[in-house]
Amino acid sequence: MTIIDGKATAAEIKKEIAAEVEARVSRGEKRPHLAAVLVGHDGGSETYVAHKVKACEECGFESTLIRREADVTEAELLQIVKQLNEDPAIDGYIVQLPLPKHIDEQKIIMAVDPAKDVDGFHPVNVGKLSLGLPCFLSATPSGIMQLLERYKIETKGKHCVVLGRSNIVGKPVAQLMMQKGNPGNATVTVCHSATLNIKEICREADIIIAALGQPGFVTADMVKPGAVIIDVGTTRVPDSTRKSGFRLCGDVDFENVAPLCSAITPVPGGVGPMTICSLMCNTLQAAKQA
Ligand code: GUN
Repeated sequence: MTIIDGKATAAEIKKEIAAEVEARVSRGEKRPHLAAVLVGHDGGSETYVAHKVKACEECGFESTLIRREADVTEAELLQIVKQLNEDPAIDGYIVQLPLPKHIDEQKIIMAVDPAKDVDGFHPVNVGKLSLGLPCFLSATPSGIMQLLERYKIETKGKHCVVLGRSNIVGKPVAQLMMQKGNPGNATVTVCHSATLNIKEICREADIIIAALGQPGFVTADMVKPGAVIIDVGTTRVPDSTRKSGFRLCGDVDFENVAPLCSAITPVPGGVGPMTICSLMCNTLQAAKQA
């Protein structure tokens, strides 16, 4: 059984990016520049954005963090997006989600210039993905594909079961797994909250990608021996023994499922570090295309 080490893979890719950036800078090109917009003080968002800024440093990128309080108006946020679209110094940017309820997230996403949409959330990028055209891929699905590729996990002709149909993970990863290519070429089933026989479907899977945000949902009785398990869950579960007061819990009962698998991603240290790494890849790409 292989434990897929996302932390080490992400570190490797960031080194590759940093080397490419230094080569570009030595040829007189500018450093890639990522901006992040963070609204309010959600604990998860604060952590993610801090990791993104740190990853920029590791890759030799410039970064700019734009912060607003949770009472920022939608109009002001749209104005920030407009300025970022027009600022030639910024290659790509993200607006960290979720946003406060009084702001229409979709309206903000639609206002982002697709050429700077390194999150891959704009409908233009989502549409290009579904057509198999080059585009900015949303970071988590892209990180999963990188792991499958680097660990040489065969996907062609395999039955891949995706648990969850979110716009950020479930839908795009299902698209990528079914597309012609390597990794890809899988037969994909997407299960969600209205699926009746999830256990039976999972037992048929060669690859399970669990992205439903329910700690420990995938149990040993749902896994075919030799299956590959990709765990996207990152639920914060209260834990008084930790300094932070919580621990991250995946969607898979790792302890009992891991012995059955041919390969599995742990939580933390699996898909999570790859997500930020994919954002760095997209930002480098944006800088190259600028
Ligand atoms: N919130 C949770 N994941 C993400 C992400 O990948 N990008 C942004 N912008 N917000 C998020």
